[in-house]
Amino acid sequence: MSGVKNKDYKNSVVSFNENDDAAVVKISNGKLLVQTVDFFTPVVDDPYTFGQIAAANALSDIYAMGATPTFALNIFGFPINELSKDIAVEILKGGSDKANEAGIPILGGHSIDDKEPKYGLVVNGEVFEDKLIRNSGSIAGDSLILTKPLGTGIITTAIKKGQVQNEFEEITINSMKTLNKDAAKIMNQYDVNAATDVTGYGLLGHLVEVCKSSRVSAEIEFSNVSFFSGTEELAKNGYIPSGSKRNYEYISKFCNFSKALSMNQKMMLSDAQTSGGLLISIPSNQAEDYVKNINSISEIKSTIIGRITDSSPTLIKIL
Ligand code: CO
Ligand code: CO
Repeated sequence: MSGVKNKDYKNSVVSFNENDDAAVVKISNGKLLVQTVDFFTPVVDDPYTFGQIAAANALSDIYAMGATPTFALNIFGFPINELSKDIAVEILKGGSDKANEAGIPILGGHSIDDKEPKYGLVVNGEVFEDKLIRNSGSIAGDSLILTKPLGTGIITTAIKKGQVQNEFEEITINSMKTLNKDAAKIMNQYDVNAATDVTGYGLLGHLVEVCKSSRVSAEIEFSNVSFFSGTEELAKNGYIPSGSKRNYEYISKFCNFSKALSMNQKMMLSDAQTSGGLLISIPSNQAEDYVKNINSISEIKSTIIGRITDSSPTLIKIL
């Protein structure tokens, strides 16, 4: 953040300056500690589901860096005098079950009395230095893979207004609850050059970061990007969250959109995601194999959505 000066730390490998997914520091010979924190207000009504989504979302930054999570801490705000204690227990249970699924314990945390519930995790992970995947390693010629469809911002906005068919709601919520664990495990079997998880800045916002820090440009094929069922219709009906509109305002400086795309489609590509998939930059001759591999074990389908090109004044072309 501008105006805030942080002390340099000799063991830091990734810090604020890098705009990457997590902070990374050296701990011992060849091993790195990866640490991230994420929390937010409820995106769904059901407290247990909210806990699961918040935890999956927080873990995602560790997976995006090629690291293995080791343990977590809770961050919890709750209106103690206004809501039943059972709701608090459900949120924490959702988080703890998701951490179990990731194979890690929650070893502590901190809670405060707060007007609106807030939940998330501090997550620690480890990775060997040569296995760390940053967002700055992308190379011209790489293919870009996205491991979850887009549209969670638009769909959850419409869910709050009761405008989403049950079936579509379930698919979207199921995706937000899904850990990026398998996507990351398989990613670590390939020569991936860069990765990040798609969250609040949306696909294009996170891709801008990858392009800037890797000094490359990118091309996205709109027709190869998948969206959750209902996304386009809900966007047409105006259910676009303000975060997605802000994302579009920011990314439009760096993007050149095909004339064939509507404003709603541009918004869909800019949609702020909760617990989105991994965006992976991988040598093109390995991309199809990765997709085949992950899609054989995952219900949520990965697709190749574009490619990395040499650096040009337009950071991202959307075809
Ligand atoms: Co991230
Ligand atoms: Co994050």
